[in-house]
Amino acid sequence: MLKVAVFVSGRGSNLRAILNSSKLTKLINVKAVISNKAACQAFKIAEEYSISNFVVGQEENDISYNHLSEFLKSLEIDLVVLAGFLKMIPKDMITNFRNRIINIHPALLPSFGGKGMYGINVHKAVYNSSAQVSGVTVHFVDESYDTGKIIAQRCVDISDVDSPEEIAERVLSVEHELLPYVIQKFALSKIIVDNGRVKVLP
Ligand code: GRF
Repeated sequence: MLKVAVFVSGRGSNLRAILNSSKLTKLINVKAVISNKAACQAFKIAEEYSISNFVVGQEENDISYNHLSEFLKSLEIDLVVLAGFLKMIPKDMITNFRNRIINIHPALLPSFGGKGMYGINVHKAVYNSSAQVSGVTVHFVDESYDTGKIIAQRCVDISDVDSPEEIAERVLSVEHELLPYVIQKFALSKIIVDNGRVKVLP
């Protein structure tokens, strides 16, 4: 079983999609849900599934950012999934878990990404650009926000939407399919990096 840690900052609907995915139950073991916020809703979801929660980077916290890498190693984590985690991942952790940290972004990278591009900000930018298509990107995490190699993307037609919120709703339902799909492929060793390009094998 692939040992997974999921990092969250808020609602946790992608965490729920992972935990609910029947395709993943036999392939992965979510060993920890980690957040920078002790009061995040996602922790309640983890508790429903009896998964341990950990807070990172606060004074009375469980783990400091300096010890994150060590902590994940002590749990023998194979894959780190950022599912709405809003803080920068420490550089040493990126080195230690190179090509083993993935992030889900609610737009088609490399557009509409980077610092400050999270939550409804992304969908407002997409809406205001008058883009007719948005989508979902799952990518490897590198040292900057949203710049790592792209693993998988899905497009969402937004030619008829009337608000950023409507884009958010359409995109979110696709996120809930794409993230479990990528994790499944990872667990089956079907994601390879070849000549600097990521390939998802059938
Ligand atoms: C999602 O839109 C995800 O793409 C982004 O943050 C949001 C998290 O939503 N990175 P949730 O907490 O999984 O409901």
